[in-house]
Amino acid sequence: MGVTSPLKGQSYSHSLPRKFLPYVLYAILPIALFRLYFHPLPLPQISTTDQLSPNNRIVLTVSSSSSFSSPPVTSSLSKEEEIAGEKTPCDYTNGSWVHDKMGPLYNGTTCGTIKDGQNCISHGRPDFGYLYWRWQPSQCKLPRFDPNTFLNLLRNKHLAFVGDSMARNQLESLLCMLATASLPKLVYTNGEDNKFRRWHFASHNTTISVYWSPFLVRGVEKSNTGPDHNELFVDNVDERWGGDLDHIDTIVLSIGHWFLHPAVFYEGGSVLGCHYCVGLNHTEIGFYDVMRKAVKTALKTITERKGGSDNGIDVFLTSFSPSHFEGEWDKAGACPKTKPYKEGEKKLEGMDAEMRAVEVEEMEAGKMNAKQFGKMRLELLDVTKLSLMRPDGHPGPYMYPNPFANGVQERVQNDCVHWCLPGPIDTWNQIFLDVIRRWSIKSR
Ligand SMILES: *[C@@H]1O[C@H](CO)[C@@H](O)[C@H](O)[C@H]1NC(C)=O
Ligand SMILES: *[C@@H]1O[C@H](CO)[C@@H](O)[C@H](O)[C@H]1NC(C)=O
Ligand SMILES: *[C@@H]1O[C@H](CO)[C@@H](O)[C@H](O)[C@H]1NC(C)=O
Ligand SMILES: *[C@@H]1O[C@H](CO)[C@@H](O)[C@H](O)[C@H]1NC(C)=O
Repeated sequence: MGVTSPLKGQSYSHSLPRKFLPYVLYAILPIALFRLYFHPLPLPQISTTDQLSPNNRIVLTVSSSSSFSSPPVTSSLSKEEEIAGEKTPCDYTNGSWVHDKMGPLYNGTTCGTIKDGQNCISHGRPDFGYLYWRWQPSQCKLPRFDPNTFLNLLRNKHLAFVGDSMARNQLESLLCMLATASLPKLVYTNGEDNKFRRWHFASHNTTISVYWSPFLVRGVEKSNTGPDHNELFVDNVDERWGGDLDHIDTIVLSIGHWFLHPAVFYEGGSVLGCHYCVGLNHTEIGFYDVMRKAVKTALKTITERKGGSDNGIDVFLTSFSPSHFEGEWDKAGACPKTKPYKEGEKKLEGMDAEMRAVEVEEMEAGKMNAKQFGKMRLELLDVTKLSLMRPDGHPGPYMYPNPFANGVQERVQNDCVHWCLPGPIDTWNQIFLDVIRRWSIKSR
């Protein structure tokens, strides 16, 4: 592929008015969810048009430090035992957050790709404790993220992040960490709010893209026929990314929160049902089964198109990322914690657990279906529980610069859904790297 080749089929005729930017949607959804599901009330009306600030500086700068090596690990294992251990997969879900005085690889001033709303340090978040934790799995070691190792493993490859703004959040974390070792060049950008972008790391001929596709399947965001709702066609992938699969070697899918919004679902050309679609006269079917169908369709399509190809494909699905609203989303203190939860303090349950369960099951099914193809690997990045333990990692009011410059106002918008950069989401990429590192050791 030419790295500058335009993305196919990328019509943006359904682009959203600015007041419906996804993170605004995210901010209301978790709160609205309870009402939507149990007490059907209208979504709270918010107007934020005038509060959106220009964002998305797209030039990356490199920090002076090159790469970090892992801290020395004291281990009673012999070298052979250690290598044997690395050939087996690790259960990253079982572990705890431990203090780590090394802190992040980058900060908001060393990395220029951070979306404004997640650049917590530059927006004046006063506490820094949330930066000094690392995830320690109980049964294996999780090395510190090493950008050179990552780039070496993806040499001459194209990695694509596909999904919603959580996919973007994870992509930007990865770019910031990689940029500490090698300078990426932005080679393509399209779509409102930089929803489609591509970078090239000349040092390793590695290409990294992000594709906006909040349902994975074909959809119309915020259809304007009738009440505000999405339309999803659950048996067809969104060809804005599907059409590029030929040129993708590793894909990371990440969806979830957009499924909570009012929607009408279509399958096989007819209406399957809807979710919270007052005034549209369809049957309410919730969204878990719909998300299941969307993941199934995505995995099936990837398998059909890539399973038999010469190079195959590596497929990751990042599991559902919990939000942490504790109070009203537009009042100060919506996600006020400054420390991780301790083990046992917070249970994985409710919607977070259900969404993850759908993804666990569909990835297992996807692995079975891909078995016949030797060159296809699938893995769930099972980050739901470890992210649930990090109520301290969200921008909260620092989605906007210096929110308390004039004292605490009555209304303060909070983002308790996305993650500050740097922040706990860096761990997702640390796990991502560890999975592909173990794969490469195993295949040696
Ligand atoms: C960010 O990193 C740069 C370069 O390492 C450093 O000079 C600066 O003090 C850091 N800023 C913060 C807020 O930590
Ligand atoms: C987590 O790991 C610990 C230590 O190896 C083990 O005792 C425990 O049973 C594991 N928990 C789960 C849920 O797998
Ligand atoms: C660079 O990587 C692309 C895949 O992303 C590959 O098609 C191309 O051949 C590579 N170029 C070189 C010089 O290896
Ligand atoms: C709603 O759908 C039912 C069943 O399809 C139909 O009988 C009814 O006329 C519809 N009502 C409206 C207001 O369209």
